[in-house]
Formats: sequence, C-alpha cells, structure tokens
Amino acid sequence: MTFIEVNNASKKFRINQRASGIPGMIANLFAPKYEYRQAVKDISFSIEEGEMTGFIGPNGAGKSTTIKMLSGILCPDSGEIKVGGFSPYKDRKKYVGNIGVVFGQKSQLQWDLPVLDSFELLKAIYRIPEKMYRDNLERFTEMLDMSGFLQQPVRQLSLGQRMRADIVAALLHSPKIVFFDEPTIGVDVAGKETIRQFIRELNEKDNITMIFTTHDMQDIEKVCDRLIIIDEGTKVYDGELMGIRERFGTTRQLDVEFVQECSVEPIEKVEILELDQRKKRFIFENRDVKIDELMNELLAKYSIRDINISEPEIERLIRRIYQGEVS
Ligand SMILES: Nc1ncnc2c1ncn2[C@@H]1O[C@H](COP(=O)(O)OP(=O)(O)O)[C@@H](O)[C@H]1O
Ligand SMILES: [Mg+2]
Repeated sequence: MTFIEVNNASKKFRINQRASGIPGMIANLFAPKYEYRQAVKDISFSIEEGEMTGFIGPNGAGKSTTIKMLSGILCPDSGEIKVGGFSPYKDRKKYVGNIGVVFGQKSQLQWDLPVLDSFELLKAIYRIPEKMYRDNLERFTEMLDMSGFLQQPVRQLSLGQRMRADIVAALLHSPKIVFFDEPTIGVDVAGKETIRQFIRELNEKDNITMIFTTHDMQDIEKVCDRLIIIDEGTKVYDGELMGIRERFGTTRQLDVEFVQECSVEPIEKVEILELDQRKKRFIFENRDVKIDELMNELLAKYSIRDINISEPEIERLIRRIYQGEVS
C-alpha cells in the first residue's frame, strides 16, 4: 500500500538581498530587493507502508526542506503531498499525532530540564495514554541504553546522548511514520552504530514507515533498503541500494589466486595486473564484460584457489553522480 505520495513538489525561499550599512538598511525599507532560491524542484516519489528509505545528498540539496514539507512544517509552493491519507500542511493538527520527527540539528527537548521531564511534558502535550507511554519509554530507553542519563538536564548530555533522547521523544506517542533528518550528524562512531541499529530494528519489528536523511553513506548502507539521491533540489536517483551499483558502477575488479604460478591468456576488454606470482587482478567495465561469464571462463581454464570481487565503493559513485559524471 502506498503510504507517502509526493507529486511534483517544489519549494522556493525568498531571500532578502540587503545591501550593507545604513544606506542599505534605508534602501531595504523602501524598496526591498529579493532573490529566490529554489530549494526543491519538482520532486516526485512514492513510498510503501513499512518501507525504510534513505534520502542522501550534499549540504543544501533540499533534504531538510523535503522533510519539512512531509511533516507539515512547510507548505509546498506547487505539487501535491499525501501521507497516510493526509495533506501534511493543511491537515497538520490531525496529522501531527501520526508522525514523529527528529531533527539532528535542532532538539525538541527542554534544555534545562532532565530528559525524563521533557518526556513527561510531551506525554501531556500529545495526550499519550499512560500505558503506551510507560511501555514505549521502557522499551526505547532500554534499546538505546539510556538509563544512565534520564535524570540529567539536556544541556549536560553529549551530542550522541541528546540525539538518543530526541529519538525517544519522537516515538513516545507510537507514530506510524517517522522522519529522521540527519540523526547521526556529529555523533561519534559508536553512537552512530547504536542509532543505526535502533532505527533498523524499529522499522523491522514495528513496521514503521521511515525516511532517513543523511549525508553519511554508511548510514544508508547499514540502515536502508531504498535510496533516493537528491542534488540541487532535484531527484537524481531512486531505487534499491543494490541497483545503484548496477546502474552507476562502472569499473569492477576480480582478484584471483591461482593454485600455482601460471600465465594467463589476454582477455578482450580486460586489463590484467600481476599482484604476485600466483595472484592476478582483472579490471574491466561493467558494460563490456559480464562478471559471471568471466568467472566461468577462468574457472574452466585454470586451477583457482580463490576469487574476490570488489565492488566500486558506493561513496565514490555517489560523488560522481553529484558531480554529474554519470547519469
Ligand atoms: N528558511 C530558509 N530561508 C532561505 N533559504 C533556505 C531556507 N531553508 C533552506 N534554504 C535554502 O534551501 C536550500 C536547501 O536547503 P536544505 O533543505 O536545508 O538542504 P539540506 O537539508 O539538504 O542540507 C539551501 O540552498 C538553503 O540555503
Ligand atoms: Mg538538512
């Protein structure tokens, strides 16, 4: 069942181009100059119930703007957004009870209050039933290993602890959809891993539909099945994480260890490197050579001890997609 449907959504921001100094201030008062920045351009996608989608793109690509439109904070200038039957912006009063949002850059917790008090406050705001609140609090704080700092004021927490607290805060009312906007930004490696595992587990066990934005490719590789890449407000890729290698992965290599020293006949469109006496590397373009055919050919002709295929590194690929080298 399609749960999130975005059709040609666009959003631009008006930026005041004020000249500097007092003359600028006065000019701005009488004839303000504006410039428009197109943050999101004609984006369309649809997401099924229970899906876990990663949204990746460089800084300023339009990820947060998209999340804000999806969560009803911003209204698209044009196009249509439907989430679980709601128009997020128009129906936002009814809608907010169904969603959870985590902004890595901005906490929804009370800075001076202990974490637990912030949670109690949210319980009152969202009118969360006692049992739901207790169950969720116990389960999530345990999964995220938070017992040690629930009584501490938020301002004393490390970034990773604060992020975990923010994640729980977004989930206390058992939302069916959760948007995570850079939930691992600035968090140390171990903390990132905890957050990733938690998100993954929650998606699998509770069938919550999730969108996860990041500019960290490792987040995506570890958490998401599906990937949407955006750059300069436009969608440049939408598909499976695996598909990206097929579509964009150009160069591949096969490292082969032979049982004994041997010479290999040249193969068309394959570059062969000598790694040592018994090891050779075969480098080729995806579109020229079918990897299984090459492997079969080698296995038929030579005695082979071991074969290793190395995939092109996703991060490098995405960088190339950003830079428009492949499309
Ligand atoms: N409130 C705003 N006012 C003006 N420009 C904005 C505002 N929010 C975002 N932008 C601009 O829109 C573009 C996309 O921003 P954003 O969605 O935050 O990107 P990302 O989250 O991918 O880093 C950027 O160029 C940013 O400067
Ligand atoms: Mg952002």
